Order: sequence, then C-alpha cells, then structure tokens
Amino acid sequence: MPDQSYIIAIDQGTTSSRAIVFDHDGNIVSTGQKEHEQIFPRAGWVEHDPEEIWTNVREVVGTALSKANLTRHDIAAVGITNQRETAVVWDKTTGKPVYNAIVWQDTRTQPTVNELANDGGLDRYKDRVGLPLATYFSGTKIKWILDNVEGARERAEAGDLLFGNTDSWIVWNLTGGTDGGVHITDVTNASRTLFMNLDSLTWNEDILKDFGVPLSMMPEIKSSSEVYGTVHTSQLLRETPVAGILGDQQAATFGQAAFGQGAAKNTYGTGCFLIFNTGEEIVRSENGLITTVAYQIGDSKPVYALEGSIAVTGSLVQWLRDNLGMIQSAPEIERLANEVTDNGGVYIVPAFSGLFAPHWRSDARGAIVGLTRFVNKNHIARAALEATAFQTREVLDAVNADSGVPLTELRVDGGMVANEALMQFQADILGVDVVRPKIVETTALGAAYAAGLAVGYWNDTDELETKWAEDKRWTPQMEDSERQRQMRLWSKAVTRTFDWVD
Ligand code: G3P
Repeated sequence: MPDQSYIIAIDQGTTSSRAIVFDHDGNIVSTGQKEHEQIFPRAGWVEHDPEEIWTNVREVVGTALSKANLTRHDIAAVGITNQRETAVVWDKTTGKPVYNAIVWQDTRTQPTVNELANDGGLDRYKDRVGLPLATYFSGTKIKWILDNVEGARERAEAGDLLFGNTDSWIVWNLTGGTDGGVHITDVTNASRTLFMNLDSLTWNEDILKDFGVPLSMMPEIKSSSEVYGTVHTSQLLRETPVAGILGDQQAATFGQAAFGQGAAKNTYGTGCFLIFNTGEEIVRSENGLITTVAYQIGDSKPVYALEGSIAVTGSLVQWLRDNLGMIQSAPEIERLANEVTDNGGVYIVPAFSGLFAPHWRSDARGAIVGLTRFVNKNHIARAALEATAFQTREVLDAVNADSGVPLTELRVDGGMVANEALMQFQADILGVDVVRPKIVETTALGAAYAAGLAVGYWNDTDELETKWAEDKRWTPQMEDSERQRQMRLWSKAVTRTFDWVD
C-alpha cells in the first residue's frame, strides 16, 4: 500500500465524536465512534465536558486507525467537522476549560438576548452577521461564562482565556495545546458566533464590545481548506497536516457536492439543517432563514448560503427513548410508527429550545396536541417522525419564497434518512422528490474533502462532484388536498407552543 493513501475526518457532533478514514473514491475504510455525556443541570441548560470530548476524539482516532491497520504514514491529512455554536472557554496556560461547553441547544441566555434586543430589536446585527439575536449562537454563551464564572472576565481581559467552538478546541489540542497549539477557526464556524462580518470575514469589534467579549479570546479566522498546522508529536497522528475545518452542516453540504448556486441539502441529525447555496452572493432572508458562510477554499472567494435550522428532530426520538422510556433504541421508532396508518390526529411540536427557523420563537415550548382516548404510543411514534417532515416543509417554503425559484428535489443525508417511512412521508409533505446519495456520511466526507483539497489529494470541486451518486429516490404519492390538510393542522399545532415562557 503506498504512503498517504487516505484522509481521516474527525466529526465532533452533538451526541458523539467519530473518526472516519476515507479512501480516494470517498469510500469509508474504517470508523471509530464514542458518545459523550449530555449534561442537563437545569431545565433549558445543556452542557458537554470539553475534556471528555477531547479524550474521546483521541480514542476514536486510534480506533479508526487500528481497525484498518493503518498508521499516521497512511494518512495524507486530517479534516475536522463539528457541532456548531457550542462554546468552550479555556485557559491558554493550563489548557483547562473554565466551565463546561455550553451547547447550541441551551436556552439559559434568553435574558441576555432580551436585554440586547431592547436596543434595536432581535435583528439589530443581522445586516452585518446574517443572524438574529438568539440563544442558539455562541455569542451570548461566551458572555454568560464571562459573567458567571468567578474571575473569568478578569482573566479574559488579561488575555489568559481562549474561546472556540469544538473545532477550535480540538485543533488547539491536536496541534500541541499549551505547547504551541494553534488557536484558529474557519469561516463557517465563525459565521455562527454573532461576531463575524459576513462580507469581510473578520471579527466585528463593535459587536464584541456590546457583548463585553475581548477580541484576544477569539480564534484567528481561516478558510475551510488550507494547512493550519501539523499534529503535535505527542499524538498518534503526529506531523500529519490539519488541513480542513467545516461546521458540520456546511461539511454535509460539501460532502453532498452541493457546490453550485441553487444546490441544497437537508441533514437529519439531532436537529435538521437545510442549506441552500447562494454562491458568492450574500442573500438576506425575508422569510426566517439565516445567512451563513457555506465554505471558503483557500484564498478563493467565500461561498454563502441560506440556512433553515431546526433544533429538534432526531433528539425528539432520543427524548422518547431516554426521558419517557417509550422505546429501547432509536430505530424501534420506525417499527412502532409503521404499525398504524396515520398519526391518529396527534401532532408533536418539539420546541424544546424554543423554535428556530422559520419562527425564531424563543418563548415557545414543546406541545403534544390532538390527544384523544383513541391515541396510543404508535400514533405518538408516528407524530414524532412526522414532526421532522413538517418542520422541513416549513423551511423549504421559506427557501422557495426567498429564492423565488422552487426547489424541484431535495438531497438528504444524516442518520434519520435510513428511515424509509419517514423519507416517503417527507416527499409526500414536500411535494418534491427526496434523494439519498450512496454515501450518507456526508458530514465526515465533506471534512475529508476540504482537507484533501488543501494537500492536493483531490484536485478541485469538479473532481469531487463526479463522486456523488444517487442511491434512492422517493417520489410524492400524497393527494395535494391531504398535504394541505396536514400542513394546516401542523401550523395550528405550532401556534399552540407560543408564549409559553413567563
Ligand atoms: O447548529 C448545530 C449543528 O451544527 C449540530 O449538528 O449533527 O450535531 O445535530 P448535529
């Protein structure tokens, strides 16, 4: 086997960390995966332990390499992809986090959002950063840590603390940590903080001041595909170039080869995220989508996107499993749902973190409506899956309204696309074809692509496009009148979740 025949991607996700080795055709060679603890200290709070995440990342890299009998000599580059927005603040001298990572789903910073919105409304920064004020993004989470961890603000102002999403945390550790680790992020992750100017791709010092976050904490913003540094000599992958970073949804866009203007993908994971490529144009949504960076390859121009972010889809199934004990394992939901022919009139609106796109209602909380004595757990299971499809339809409507050119099919990926019944229902509710590619691990693949491009392992995006292949297509079979009836009921259910927070 020749040297450096493979690329390894590290996918640091919301529920687990994975390492996947890919070959030159984009096929998976081996995988390591480990879940980390979800910490819920109070209602609305969601945390992860950054040190556990870093330990798991090292372990899964080892697993992936050893399963395929590979060493660092076989690996041409490392790509990183990550859960976005989740905020880690650590001490650059000790390497220790000052607090747990505050996860993207966490809503504790609602009072800060309200306070900042008092002067100029929720959209006061949107022109510059593409995002509304919301608990979702990193900005208010960093502020919370500085305001609430004893001594943190003084240490930050003295230049002792660093901030990063989990991409920065991993890259800093991977490249040496306290022994010269690089403190960087890429444009896609930076575009989720509320602090990055979309046009110049630089930190906005005025907004940082409004939040009381020192510029010295912020990582240097890099492109998504370039050599940032090499892995430290203390690590298994020592001296391998770290050459790609993409937030996980942007990575899936890359892995789906959605490079052209107008291309789109929808990823069904913990949440669901539809990304619509707008090319070099920064498009401002008038229908509840956010504007984000899709990717930037080296020093070429950035590519932008509109995004419809849905906070809860797969995590609703986890909730039925972990909090209600209704199922033993997530795949069981499909069997339960398939035992009935419809939802029995039940709708579940999983507004656990408020509602994101297109509503942006942080005052919303989850609801199960339409209950009668007839309803059983099969209907609840079905309604839980259908909630994913209904939410995606709302986002697709917003994309179509913003772009003026309706999408004619939707490329899908992520864990839930293995669920055939859900994908058929998705096509039915959208009224357009739903298409699954052969490689559904698009998130890790996208990170591998970005890293591989930077080291010349692949030539360009045209070459990557040739690797995309269709696996399965679902075509709508539902009558239009039934589709409209279902959406009417869903929309009514959504309104029942509003105004729930005092
Ligand atoms: O914005 C949050 C998103 O990046 C998390 O993705 O796949 O970990 O649910 P996932």
